[in-house]
Amino acid sequence: MRIIIVYFSLTGKTKKLAVNIYRFLKERNLDVSLFELEEKKKESNFFKNCIRAITGKDSEIEKIPNLENYDLIFIGAPIWVGRVTPYVKSFLESVELKDKKVFLFTTYGSGFMKNKAMRKFIESIEMKEGKVIGKIEIKGNRVEENIDYVKQEIEKCLREL
Ligand SMILES: Cc1cc2nc3c(=O)[nH]c(=O)nc-3n(C[C@H](O)[C@H](O)[C@H](O)COP(=O)(O)O)c2cc1C
Repeated sequence: MRIIIVYFSLTGKTKKLAVNIYRFLKERNLDVSLFELEEKKKESNFFKNCIRAITGKDSEIEKIPNLENYDLIFIGAPIWVGRVTPYVKSFLESVELKDKKVFLFTTYGSGFMKNKAMRKFIESIEMKEGKVIGKIEIKGNRVEENIDYVKQEIEKCLREL
């Protein structure tokens, strides 16, 4: 089974979660790669990023990974204004997910509209005929405290494959 973890992270929290997932899968001797999505036009202004999240404008990404040879795809995104970041949306619009198994993970701040964001995240995979086999939502500044929970949720999904 070939696995890829694709994620976007502006301030490193989702990256920390992605790297922990990567290490965990590696420890189990699984064939896993890690791919960070990078925005074409870097923007660190909070309000401009909120506008990007709402309008989807200027949210192009540098490189899109080829998912063809992967059986399981982990996709990670921070929540921005109750949505997954527009970069992850751009990525999802560009890839084929038909019959792919997908595990979603998000990080969030206050938790504002995080459930709605996850619901939409799941819908966007299902619209592409991918199969969501698991999901985790972690508060961005609590990644380390939640590693056991993360491992447990992934383990559960792997057992059911
Ligand atoms: C532009 C922007 C919008 C955000 N909107 C939300 C939100 O609607 N709900 C929430 O819980 N957190 C929100 N946050 C907080 C991030 O989701 C949280 O800090 C996340 O862990 C950041 O991940 P990262 O470090 O991988 O970029 C927002 C952060 C930014 C920069």
